Amino acid sequence: MSMGTPPPPEIPDSRWRQSLRRRLLTWFGVHGRDLPWRRTRILYHVWVSEIMLQQTQVATVVPYFQRFISRFPDISSLAAAKEDEVLRLWEGLGYYRRARNLHRAAQQIVQDHNAQFPEDFSVARSLPGIGRYTAGAILSIALDQKLPILEANTVRVFSRLLAFRGIPTEKHGQQLLWSFSESLLPRQRVGDLNQALMELGSEVCTPRVPSCASCPVHMLCAAYRQGTQALIPAKKPRTAIENVTEAAIVIQRGTRVLLRRHSDQERWAGLWDFPRFATNPGQTAVSNQELIDNAHQLTGMKIDPSQHLTTMQHGVTRFRITLQCHLAHYVSGRKQDDHLCWRAPDELEQLPLNVTGRKIGRLLADRTK
Ligand code: ADE
Repeated sequence: MSMGTPPPPEIPDSRWRQSLRRRLLTWFGVHGRDLPWRRTRILYHVWVSEIMLQQTQVATVVPYFQRFISRFPDISSLAAAKEDEVLRLWEGLGYYRRARNLHRAAQQIVQDHNAQFPEDFSVARSLPGIGRYTAGAILSIALDQKLPILEANTVRVFSRLLAFRGIPTEKHGQQLLWSFSESLLPRQRVGDLNQALMELGSEVCTPRVPSCASCPVHMLCAAYRQGTQALIPAKKPRTAIENVTEAAIVIQRGTRVLLRRHSDQERWAGLWDFPRFATNPGQTAVSNQELIDNAHQLTGMKIDPSQHLTTMQHGVTRFRITLQCHLAHYVSGRKQDDHLCWRAPDELEQLPLNVTGRKIGRLLADRTK
């Protein structure tokens, strides 16, 4: 180990851990939020909430959770739904793969487990979209099974409690933090402890300016003692943002426009959108010939480009995308597949669209009013 790099921390002793558990459970009893999925311990509800909470804030999730559960009150109703309807209810939450996996897992549970969410960790973990964290969270919260968790909030809390200066996503960090999480588990109220840890991370031990003064465990926190909270957890070097230009084509035929569903291999798998393609690197405008060629490749149609509609900016992962939206008229032909459909602009509300598809759709509906 080079000079200046602190040695990796050790897991504190059992008295320290006991003190942490007691303080957290007491704090959670007073400060834990009253959330719809905390009122019952129904496995299905906890599962849906945990999937929605991945990469999404509690406040955003609550109304989505309520709409989802009233439309799909149990696993069988979710399994029986059309994928389009599941995605439509998910629209705005992002990371649509989560919704498709949830839907597929529901179908597997109906088929293989008599429509009951599996209570065995390994079986739960083998379902689409359920990894070590999610299986542990669901089974500990709903059934108090003694299983550790590690997600964004707890990574931050644990790294600070231990003053761990390494990168948490790397192998060594993962091993340390999972072992620490496991070492904390109580004999009873495992679900409450796991939720208290996440709650502490989202409400108190926040990323930039943590509220150490109101933290129930600051006296046990090594980062607090050192004053290194702001440096922990260490960030992975960021991949550079890349500017790209893409084009969307609104193909009009009478009063209707053409929608295309993204295939499983594409960025918005399962969602509908206007036919869309990437321009060559460095290029910022789109020629009529490119619109014609790409429309033909994507849809098998011959089109006649008419005018530029609008330009939109949006970000996806490491890309900053400028989207050039063009209008065109349908001329002839089409591919034989069910990934294309014609709709009037005011009928688009029923289809699950990606964000820019929805914006273009609403723009068209406003223009035709
Ligand atoms: N983030 C992920 N799961 C959570 C939970 N159960 N409570 C609060 N925040 C969370």
